[in-house]
Amino acid sequence: MPAAAMLTPEAWSGSLATVTATDTNVDPNVVEVTLRATPAEIEYLPGKRTTAWTYGGTVPGPTIRAKLGDRILVHFRNDLPEPTTIHWHGLRLPNAMDGAGPAATPIPPGGTFDYAFDALDAGTYWYHPHVASNEQVDRGLYGAIVIDDPAEPALPVVADEMVVLDDVMLDAATGVQTAMKDDERALMMGLEGNLALVNGRRSNVGVAVRAGEWRRLRLLSSANARYFKLSLAGGTMIQLATDGTLLEAPAPVSELLLVPGERADVVVRVDSASNTATLRAVPYARAVGSEPTTAIDLVRLVASAEPPVDVKMPAALRPHSPLSPSSKTRTIRLGERTDGARPVFLINDAAFPAVPTIDAKLGSVEEWAIQNESDMDHPFHLHGFFFQPVDTRVRKDTVNVPAKTTVRLLVDFHAHAGAAGSWMYHCHILEHAEGGMLAEVMVNE
Ligand code: C2O
Ligand code: CU
Ligand code: CU
Repeated sequence: MPAAAMLTPEAWSGSLATVTATDTNVDPNVVEVTLRATPAEIEYLPGKRTTAWTYGGTVPGPTIRAKLGDRILVHFRNDLPEPTTIHWHGLRLPNAMDGAGPAATPIPPGGTFDYAFDALDAGTYWYHPHVASNEQVDRGLYGAIVIDDPAEPALPVVADEMVVLDDVMLDAATGVQTAMKDDERALMMGLEGNLALVNGRRSNVGVAVRAGEWRRLRLLSSANARYFKLSLAGGTMIQLATDGTLLEAPAPVSELLLVPGERADVVVRVDSASNTATLRAVPYARAVGSEPTTAIDLVRLVASAEPPVDVKMPAALRPHSPLSPSSKTRTIRLGERTDGARPVFLINDAAFPAVPTIDAKLGSVEEWAIQNESDMDHPFHLHGFFFQPVDTRVRKDTVNVPAKTTVRLLVDFHAHAGAAGSWMYHCHILEHAEGGMLAEVMVNE
């Protein structure tokens, strides 16, 4: 099952700029925005028009920016030809606002819905549909939501930008997006495209920089299935946050695996004058015996001849206490079987909606052993609550579970307003989620 050959971009130019949602509310503690899901024409390939599904006409959709504690109001209108929802990936919010699960009725074509929630956590999150997500996200429905914490240490960076990574499968001659639905690799591994996108543009962004200066990149993978194993050849990359939450201290990384749905905030720099650093996805094999993906150059930082500046990152970011011992231990087994030619993706040997719902208690911490019995990696994601991989001090909502490996998580069913209810957990390879690897946890008062 070879991966598709990639279309390669020609020139290195352009910026990382993304559209920011307009806050129409004068109250400094309320962010009120309008989002409209609508088909739009996007030029992914020069001179070629691709009909994408968008939030407000752009891919990615507008970045929503708020500060910790703000009230966020989103007036949503569905102008797609099919029902949809907006799910706020990684955010803790009331169950009825999650855009997923039994409490979220799909919004019909022409319908509207007002999302309202408080920004309880600072960091980099994102939004996307939770109806036929493999198709709707793939067509371009995704955007970022960034919550700033004014109390966080100020970082000595010259830029703070979203870098949303995705891939699409396009017909090179016409620009038409093709689905490859019956491709053998796509059925099993999820849909990978032949064009890598950075902020909705083909991956050829070249940014002019001065050597030594730091730029904060908020990396997010909205890809259905592609794994981006990132390296910065010719420069230095330091990780600050994972899935939004700041680490205890900046951590230099030579390679950083970003799986579908996951985020990583990093700072990057070119070390010496007149040099170029390339953010590159290096080959990664995400299934036993599968061919690794080909390397893709994503973003270039091109340093001027000016002498480098010397700027230090702070030594500490945000302290984290380990979660208290768990009250309950569970095993969640990820597996797969074939039904004729079609693979079916399983949790504890059953496919959604046949997976029994777990009952958990609000305020408890549970230990979940995510046991991957299959031959391929699965990115595990839980809605509405954070977890801490055992023996780490990080807080996450999406974590890779490599093939034939068990990852242990302490799940924090922390009480917040509206937290009681049924929440989803699933593989974030969207074909796997829609193909059965999805279930619910009922969190009771
Ligand atoms: Cu990114 Cu169930 O979601
Ligand atoms: Cu989610
Ligand atoms: Cu999966």
